[in-house]
Amino acid sequence: QTHHQTSQSLNALLAPFTKQFQNGLLRQGTSSVPLLTTMSQYYMLQPSKRLRPCLILLMCQATNGLGSDWETKSTSLWVGCSAETDALENILPEQLSLAQVFEILHVASLLHDDVIDNAETRRGSPSVPALFGNRRAILAGDFLLGRAMRLVGTLGSPEVMSLVAEVFCTLVEGELLQAGYTDLSLGSAVVDPVHLPRVAQDPAEDEIITSLWQEYLQKTYMKTASLFAKAMECAVILGGATAEDPLREAASSFGACLGMAFQIVDDLLDFEGDPKKLGKPANADMRLGLVTAPVFFALQEDESIRPRVLRCFEGPGDVEATADCVRNTQALSRTRKLAESYAMKAREALNIVPDSAAKEALLKVTFAILARQA
Ligand code: FPP
Ligand code: MG
Ligand code: MG
Repeated sequence: QTHHQTSQSLNALLAPFTKQFQNGLLRQGTSSVPLLTTMSQYYMLQPSKRLRPCLILLMCQATNGLGSDWETKSTSLWVGCSAETDALENILPEQLSLAQVFEILHVASLLHDDVIDNAETRRGSPSVPALFGNRRAILAGDFLLGRAMRLVGTLGSPEVMSLVAEVFCTLVEGELLQAGYTDLSLGSAVVDPVHLPRVAQDPAEDEIITSLWQEYLQKTYMKTASLFAKAMECAVILGGATAEDPLREAASSFGACLGMAFQIVDDLLDFEGDPKKLGKPANADMRLGLVTAPVFFALQEDESIRPRVLRCFEGPGDVEATADCVRNTQALSRTRKLAESYAMKAREALNIVPDSAAKEALLKVTFAILARQA
């Protein structure tokens, strides 16, 4: 599949929801302080895959009616009778708001992320901190978190509220872990360490690298996959899935596995992607001192990069030499396989969901994220 087809198919999946979704989203990014509106809406107005809201709305369409408590939740279900409501068919108004909550939360995290990562660009344009400065970008992120909270308060579900709050916290934990604060005592992230690389020789170094790998998977869950997992869980909760319904676990597991695959592909693209398409420089992760899956796999085949990895690419030429090594080993194809194995698990999680057009679309997304080039 070409990039063009892939991004089109991802975009096409959300296209029917775009207008209603986007209007509500921009409304949440509006402030009486004009500069705050500009910054809050800046990433909302850029072309984007809208992956998170897309998945939420498709999950709702695929599962509404299946939850034990559906009858009490389904009072204001959209039924198709106009171009707009046809697109939202079988979605509750609260579920459209939920999609907005998660997109707002995502945008807030990007505003903070671009400060943390010192990112000059995002999606090929200057980042908000590059344009307006770090202090203002941080405030815009805070503002949007408040807006997400305000909106989630209207959904009528304390459970959804606490799951969204948990996502805030887990994102922060993931970022801190990534920044190297390894002494946090973290709860149980539901990651499955597939293909744990084994590197021999000095056992002390070995331990560092093994724990780096486990931390990588945990961090990947926390900074990215947790949001997908909780988004999917909230979607089915609003559709009446109770704690006992197997649908809850299925939705959450679908989101977690898809999120893992998504982030692992992101890490892969840092090595093999086209900086122009990505809208950010090549090897940006290594330049930030981050050790990701391709590096772990390269290390298994080529011990020569070990000192570079252990010093987080801070030595002269470390980034370039490691990038060469990654390209000259099976590292990239093994990373792709790792992402594929998570995408497959995501599909398996949907086995209990009956066939429908929306389920087909969810399955399509699991393939599309693997083929994406930006
Ligand atoms: C992008 O990753 C960033 C994230 C997935 C999460 C960022 C989370 C925070 C900054 C914590 C603050 C949280 C809230 C709720 C405001 P990346 O830097 O790997 O990817 P990129 O290329 O898109 O920048
Ligand atoms: Mg970043
Ligand atoms: Mg980051």
